[in-house]
Amino acid sequence: MSETATRTKSTNDIKDIKLADEGRRRTEWAERSMPVLRQLRQRFEREKPLSGKRLAACLHVTTETANLAVTLQAGGADVALCGSNPLSTQDDVAAHLVRDHGIKVFAIKGEDHATYYDHIRAALAHRPDITMDDGADLVGALHMIALNRLDDLAPPVRKWVETLSSADRKALVAGVIGSTEETTTGVIRLKAMAKDGVLQFPVIAVNDSQTKHLFDNRYGTGQSTLDGIVRATNMLIAGSTVVVAGYGWCGRGFAMRVRGAGANVLVTEIDAMKALEAQMDGYRVVPMSEAAPVGDLFVTLTGNVEVIRVEHMRAMKDGAVLANSGHFNVEIDLEGLKQTAKGPTPVREFVEEWRIGEKRLFVLADGRLINLAAAEGHPASVMDMSFANQALAAEHVVNNAKTLSKDVHRIPTDLDQEIASLKLQAMGVAIDTLTPAQRKYLASWDMGT
Ligand SMILES: NC(=O)c1ccc[n+]([C@@H]2O[C@H](COP(=O)([O-])OP(=O)(O)OC[C@H]3O[C@@H](n4cnc5c(N)ncnc54)[C@H](O)[C@@H]3O)[C@@H](O)[C@H]2O)c1
Repeated sequence: MSETATRTKSTNDIKDIKLADEGRRRTEWAERSMPVLRQLRQRFEREKPLSGKRLAACLHVTTETANLAVTLQAGGADVALCGSNPLSTQDDVAAHLVRDHGIKVFAIKGEDHATYYDHIRAALAHRPDITMDDGADLVGALHMIALNRLDDLAPPVRKWVETLSSADRKALVAGVIGSTEETTTGVIRLKAMAKDGVLQFPVIAVNDSQTKHLFDNRYGTGQSTLDGIVRATNMLIAGSTVVVAGYGWCGRGFAMRVRGAGANVLVTEIDAMKALEAQMDGYRVVPMSEAAPVGDLFVTLTGNVEVIRVEHMRAMKDGAVLANSGHFNVEIDLEGLKQTAKGPTPVREFVEEWRIGEKRLFVLADGRLINLAAAEGHPASVMDMSFANQALAAEHVVNNAKTLSKDVHRIPTDLDQEIASLKLQAMGVAIDTLTPAQRKYLASWDMGT
């Protein structure tokens, strides 16, 4: 589709419905590793907590997301789904959701910029009561509409909004009773909106649940980022020097996995506490300018812009590989690279060569989330908890729509604990319970000296 064309399909826009059988098989395979979400689905089927609600989700269209979408539908929601990244859609999964569940899906792997935003438009045209984001794209667009900043909307969304009356635009935003957000980058933006007093409805920061970031960001991103890089390049990690930019939840997880695979790991940070932690975890902490000439593989996991800049690229060795696993493709300065280097020359799927003089640099997946572009994203077992949080967050929004303030909230701690308990149960892991004496001891200040 050309950059200017506009899609008109209102119920779905997917690559090929004939892929549905494969999508169903793979979604069922993922479901086997999602016992917590399965239990929730059974309860949702009985209780229908989302009955009559229209829900628009902008998530990576993967087998795990399919299981979430079906759970939300089981709870009574009318679900529309668009992709949260142009490269992360699994086309067979999209086909399965459309054919076997009648879910409206707007997502095609490799879609161009215009199509990506036309799919966001289609999700908004679903007139959601609840939105579910991974990176705040739906909420971001709704706020540009609310604040009448139409020039800040991508053209396919702007053109559609311009056809709506002012009352209709107001109704679109006012119709949203609440939203949920999956990732760190989205939560940072939403907190900034709340701080500026512009947030139009309550948002549940799913990322802030312990059963989300402690496991999904650390173990999910850790493993799947390595998986994506290995699938894209087939490079040997053992003995190589890997530079991990950012030692937050994702960076920690990736550094741990890549060290386990035999790499020498260097960490770059801007936060003294995180840098200290990395140093004491046994990594070498250096500024990017020192890491640049020695790294074989550079991976950004910061949620920040221009972490790897042209000055670093110029200093890199011939053959260095650059990948990103942070939310947006802004962590490697690709614009600067374009202006400085010759290329890109495709080398193999997800690998492009750039030349700076005689030196070759290889950028993976156009700097987009490597674990979702070149691999399958996080394993289902970890998404089980993240998406149990999403489903419970949607229910929480419905149950508490009248009392939740227009702010960024966490789901209540007892729900977070419940997800952890269910996961342990499903893993066959038992834990001790407090004895009455222990409970009393922990609650007192005058015992035990
Ligand atoms: N690939 C995935 O599937 C996936 C999954 C979860 C989160 N994410 C995304 O990954 C990114 C990181 O998430 P997180 O949960 O680890 O966040 P986090 O806040 O825990 O960690 C980010 C770290 O990056 C550091 N940092 C910021 N700017 C830096 C710079 N210029 N150089 C070096 N370090 C810098 C911060 O100090 C922080 O320690 C976010 O964009 C998030 O949305 C991706």
